Amino acid sequence: MLGIIGAGNISEAIIAGILKSKTLDCKNIVVSNYNQSKAEKLSLKYGVTAADNIEVIKKNSIILLAVKPYALINVLELYQNELADKVIVSVASGISINDMENVNKRLKIIRTMPNTPVQICKGVLAYVYGANIVENDKNIFKTIFSKLGMFIEIDESKIDAVSSLTGCSPAFIYQIIEAMSDAGVKMGLQRELAISLSAMAVQGSGGMVYNTEMHPAVLKDKVTSPAGSTIEGLAELESKGVRGAVISALYKAYEKTLLFSKK
Ligand SMILES: NC(=O)c1ccc[n+]([C@@H]2O[C@H](COP(=O)([O-])OP(=O)(O)OC[C@H]3O[C@@H](n4cnc5c(N)ncnc54)[C@H](OP(=O)(O)O)[C@@H]3O)[C@@H](O)[C@H]2O)c1
Repeated sequence: MLGIIGAGNISEAIIAGILKSKTLDCKNIVVSNYNQSKAEKLSLKYGVTAADNIEVIKKNSIILLAVKPYALINVLELYQNELADKVIVSVASGISINDMENVNKRLKIIRTMPNTPVQICKGVLAYVYGANIVENDKNIFKTIFSKLGMFIEIDESKIDAVSSLTGCSPAFIYQIIEAMSDAGVKMGLQRELAISLSAMAVQGSGGMVYNTEMHPAVLKDKVTSPAGSTIEGLAELESKGVRGAVISALYKAYEKTLLFSKK
């Protein structure tokens, strides 16, 4: 049912998430890759079927194109006839629906922006429908992809912002977790424990913001007692300009994404 061209990082995350969410059985996922051994590795690990690109397209009604942005238009041009009646899901950053539909006006395109935590069904998957997508296509797409985390339809003009805020930020958060664990080790904790505690603190804090829908500043105030230890740490973060650094890191990522989009 789901064909995947490209057996790289994001494909693996999506396959793992779909199997975890039990929306598809591994027998219903077929994957191909330029270098076939990568598809075979996914086959061994997840029980999905490895095949070539043509077989992936012919055997499936919905095709995930998970190749690098520079390869995407080539793939669409090469297989445009075979892809004409399929639902095509692109994950490529910087390639617009218009760019893809310009290859062939009949193509049914859904442009998405997933992040790697889709692997544990805690990701974000933002999407935009192309002009030829009909209700039945939307239903198939939602059935397969909606359980990977936050599933949200957006305006295409916002996809580069979503990409830097959700696609790039996991790397930033991993760096913060690593730094937190360094602090734990400095305080005498074992590395493994320090990493687990830090990861859980980040997960729990994110969950509090997401589930309570309270403003992060209100939640912050609830942890901060007068003349206590938390305010000492917060003051240190402010004096080191952490807030400004976070804003500019995300904005730099956004600017780079915009540059890719214009190429
Ligand atoms: N990684 C992320 O966090 C993330 C998040 C959101 C979106 N994306 C998007 O996802 C796409 C893939 O990224 P990635 O990180 O997964 O890259 P990746 O690990 O390099 O995977 C891309 C795969 O596509 C294969 N490929 C290239 N041309 C092909 C073709 N003509 N036919 C079959 N397979 C082909 C490559 O095979 P070879 O290695 O054999 O060349 C490679 O295994 C990109 O467009 C990126 O913008 C990634």
